[in-house]
Amino acid sequence: MSFRIQPTPVARPNRCQLFGPGSRPAIFEKMATSAADVINLDLEDSVAPDDKATARQNVIQAIGDIDWGNKHLSVRINGLDTPYWYQDVVALLENASDRLDQIMIPKAGCAADIYAVDALVTAVERARGRTKPIAFEVIIESAAGIAHVEEIAAASPRLQAMSLGAADFAASMGMQTTGIGGTQENYYMAHEGAKYWSDPWHWAQTAIVAACRTHGVLPVDGPFGDFSDDEGFRAQALRSATLGMVGKWAIHPKQVTLANEVFTPSDAAVAEAREILAAMEKAKAEGAGATVYKGRLVDIASIKQAEVIVRQAAMIADH
Ligand code: COA
Ligand code: MG
Repeated sequence: MSFRIQPTPVARPNRCQLFGPGSRPAIFEKMATSAADVINLDLEDSVAPDDKATARQNVIQAIGDIDWGNKHLSVRINGLDTPYWYQDVVALLENASDRLDQIMIPKAGCAADIYAVDALVTAVERARGRTKPIAFEVIIESAAGIAHVEEIAAASPRLQAMSLGAADFAASMGMQTTGIGGTQENYYMAHEGAKYWSDPWHWAQTAIVAACRTHGVLPVDGPFGDFSDDEGFRAQALRSATLGMVGKWAIHPKQVTLANEVFTPSDAAVAEAREILAAMEKAKAEGAGATVYKGRLVDIASIKQAEVIVRQAAMIADH
């Protein structure tokens, strides 16, 4: 398929996804007035089994009652390995207002998981005459999920975003860690008595970015559990942004600002990208395919790199 143009993901900012348990309605208004681009009301693992039904009702009510502004509004349903997920889908699609934009499918393991939810969503949408199709986002957080990441990215035209869920991923992979994202104490290179920490999430993140970019889906970095560690969050987010991810989750409101800072291209980065584009325009006018900008090579690939930054900044400014 290499002669085809890489599909462009949906054009909406997804710098920060703020999560909150569906069983804690007292924080919903605070979520709505936060600076996050995406809101994830959770019915899954932050809600205890006995609270599932109440959380579902809280969330359905809040979707209609609260002013969510221009936020992308998503609900995380329960996994397909539980008895709850079909009721989540049916209750949401039958009873939530049209303000609901998206459903998040956790623990996606293969394309058939997405197909199953798609079939149920499509049937309820038709039965109810819902005219606004619900979008999907998925979490890759298992060995099966990462092994089948590409077919999952291609599984449904509803799919807009894909996140790495570090904690469940680590558990499924049998990784010896209890940390949710970030630096892991035992993952280091040793050289001449010094330790150099490496990034155990790198491979999974890159696999997700590649699958997403192949199929026009937004790649997103998931949670960073230690919300007292701003430096660690920022470092993780900067690495994700460098690899091509467009945003990161916040599991506490204080992480929203950090994510927005990292995933909004800085004025300096935008100015430099514009200068590169101008330098290449000048080169083109002179009949050259490459030129020198601040002592380094820039060529036609540099145009594409610079355009990523300029486009991202323009989309955020328009929002
Ligand atoms: N969204 C919006 N506001 C939130 C919030 C959230 N996710 N979590 C806490 N707040 C509010 C609190 O209500 C409090 O508001 P106040 O100043 O008006 O009283 C303020 O932010 C500070 O909260 P804090 O006391 O530091 O945290 P907490 O002990 O109340 O809650 C967590 C901490 C981690 C339990 C909570 O942030 C949370 O549930 N996070 C989301 C968990 C989740 O959804 N996990 C699933 C995805 S991994
Ligand atoms: Mg999880």
